[in-house]
Amino acid sequence: MSNTPLIEVTNLSLKLSNADVLSSITIASTDPGVTMVMGPNGAGKSLFLRCLHGLTIPTGGSIKIFGNSILGTSTDQAMVFQKPVLLRRSVIDNLKFAGSTNTQRNAIDDALSLARLQDKQHFPAKLLSGGEQQRLALSRALLREPKLLVLDEPTASLDPASVQIIEQVIQDFTERGGKVIFVSHDIGQAKRLGSEIIFLHMGRVLEHSVASAFFNNPVTDEARAYLNGHIII
Ligand SMILES: Nc1ncnc2c1ncn2[C@@H]1O[C@H](COP(=O)(O)OP(=O)(O)OP(=O)(O)O)[C@@H](O)[C@H]1O
Ligand SMILES: [Mg+2]
Repeated sequence: MSNTPLIEVTNLSLKLSNADVLSSITIASTDPGVTMVMGPNGAGKSLFLRCLHGLTIPTGGSIKIFGNSILGTSTDQAMVFQKPVLLRRSVIDNLKFAGSTNTQRNAIDDALSLARLQDKQHFPAKLLSGGEQQRLALSRALLREPKLLVLDEPTASLDPASVQIIEQVIQDFTERGGKVIFVSHDIGQAKRLGSEIIFLHMGRVLEHSVASAFFNNPVTDEARAYLNGHIII
C-alpha cells in the first residue's frame, strides 16, 4: 500500500470579509476510516469541509485528495450538509437526477432501501421529515459511488433511529474502502465512528490524533474544555 496521504492539506488559509477564518491548516491524513472534525461553534469546521469539497476557494495553500489537487468538485467525492439540499421533486426523482445515465434501476432501488424510503418513493422529497430527508440525501450522495464522503453534521437534531441508520450506512461505506470526513458535536458519535480526530479552534488545527488519544488525553486546554462541555473563546 502506498503512503500517499488520502487527505493532504498544506498551509490552507481562508480570509472572508477581512477575517482570517482558516489559518495555516496543514494536515496529512493516511487514516482509512472516519476522520472526525470537532471544535466549538465558529471554529471553521464547515468552511474547512467546503474547501475540501471545492465549494469554497481558499485564499492560500493547497489541498490534495487521494494524491490529486482538487479542481472544483469531483464525482470521486460527495458532500452531505446539516440541512439537506433536496430537489423539489419526488424521492425517486431526487435519486434518478443524481444518478448518471448508466445508473441502473436496481441501484435506485438499493438507494431507496438504504434510505428506508421504499414506501415513500413517490412522495415529494421536501415534505419528508428531517431524518427522512437526511437519509435520502446520504443515499443520494452514495449513488455515484464516491471514494470520499464529506459530512457536515448530517445527524444533528435527528431522532435516534435515523442516527443509527445513518451511522450504519457510514460504517458500511468505510468497510467497503470509502474514506469519510465528518463534522460532529456529538462526542458519543465521534467515539463510535471516529478513528482519528482533527480539533479546530478559531480557524486553526490544535490537535490531530487517533481518536482514543484525543478522548483520553487531549493535549490542549481548549480540547479539554470542549470535551468537558465548557464554553471556550
Ligand atoms: N462570509 C463571511 N464573512 C466573514 N466571516 C464569515 C463568513 N462566513 C463565515 N464566517 C465566519 O467563519 C467562522 C467559521 O464558520 P463555520 O461555519 O466554518 O463554523 P463551524 O465551525 O462550522 O461552526 P458550527 O459548529 O456553529 O457549525 C465563523 O466565525 C463565521 O462567522
Ligand atoms: Mg458548521
